Amino acid sequence: MNNLIQVDKLDRIKEAASYIKSKLNNKPQVAIILGSGLGPFADQIENAVVIDYKDIPGFPVSTVEGHAGKLVCGTISGKNVLAMKGRFHYYEGYEISQVVFHIRVFKMLGINDILVTNAAGGINTEFTPGDLMLITDHISFFAPSPLRGANIDEFGPRFPDMCEAYSKKLISIAENVAWKLNINIKKGVYAFAQGPMFETPAEIRALRILGADAVGMSTVPEVITARHAGMRVLGISCITNMAAGILDQPLNHEEVMITAKNVENNFSTLVKSIIENWDI
Ligand code: HPA
Repeated sequence: MNNLIQVDKLDRIKEAASYIKSKLNNKPQVAIILGSGLGPFADQIENAVVIDYKDIPGFPVSTVEGHAGKLVCGTISGKNVLAMKGRFHYYEGYEISQVVFHIRVFKMLGINDILVTNAAGGINTEFTPGDLMLITDHISFFAPSPLRGANIDEFGPRFPDMCEAYSKKLISIAENVAWKLNINIKKGVYAFAQGPMFETPAEIRALRILGADAVGMSTVPEVITARHAGMRVLGISCITNMAAGILDQPLNHEEVMITAKNVENNFSTLVKSIIENWDI
C-alpha cells in the first residue's frame, strides 16, 4: 500500500517536471520562491518564459492576494533561475504534501539550490519593519511535517538530518554581498505559524522565549522538503511588521504588503547580487 502511494506521488511529480521542462530553453540552476509582496522581483528576469501554475499538471493554484501564481524562468546576473511568484500555504487548505509539491518538482528538474523568501513578523525587538533577515534556523514543533506518510526513497531518507537546514556557506555569501552593498542585514531564527490568523501576544512572547526572532506562515515545510532531497537552502525574511503585542496596534495584511513594497528595491538589489555570487 505504502509503495503504491509513493509511486503515484512520484508519477505526479515527474509529470509536472516534464511539462515544465518542455517549456524551458535552459536548465535552471537556482529556484527562487518569492514571498508576499516580493513577486515583482521576477519582472527583472531576462529572456523570461512564464508558465501559469494552472497549466502545470498537478500544481496547486495559490489563492492569496500578492501571490500571482506564475513560474518565471530565465536569467538574472548571469545565472539560470526559475522564480515562483506565489507559493502554497497550509492555511489555504491544502494537504501538507501539496504545499511542498513544487520543491520535489524542482528537484526532479535537476535543481539543487533554492532561495526561499517570505514576509515575516519581527519578534526580536531590535528589528524594525523593512529589515531583511537571513534565516539561520527555524522552529516548527507545532505543525505537521511535509514528510509525513510513506517516505519517497528517491528523494531522501526516512529520518533526514536538519542540523544545517540553511546553508552556512550561502549565509556567508549573502552577508558579504550585503556588506558590500551597504545593506544592513539581520540574522535570526524563523518560527513557523500555521495561520491564517496572526499570533496572539502571548504566543509571540512564548516564541521569543523559545529563541525565535521572526514568525511567518510559510517557508518551513518547503525547507524541510528541500533538505530531505539534499538541496542547499538560503532563506531571507522581509520583516514587514512587528509581531503581535510588541507595538500597541493591531496587525493586518495591508501593512505586510505596504512594507514589502517599500523594501522592493533593497530586496531586488540584494537578491540579484546574491545570485551573481552564488557558488554553483
Ligand atoms: N505573523 C505571521 N506571519 C506573518 C507576519 C506575522 O506577524 N507578518 C508577515 N507574515
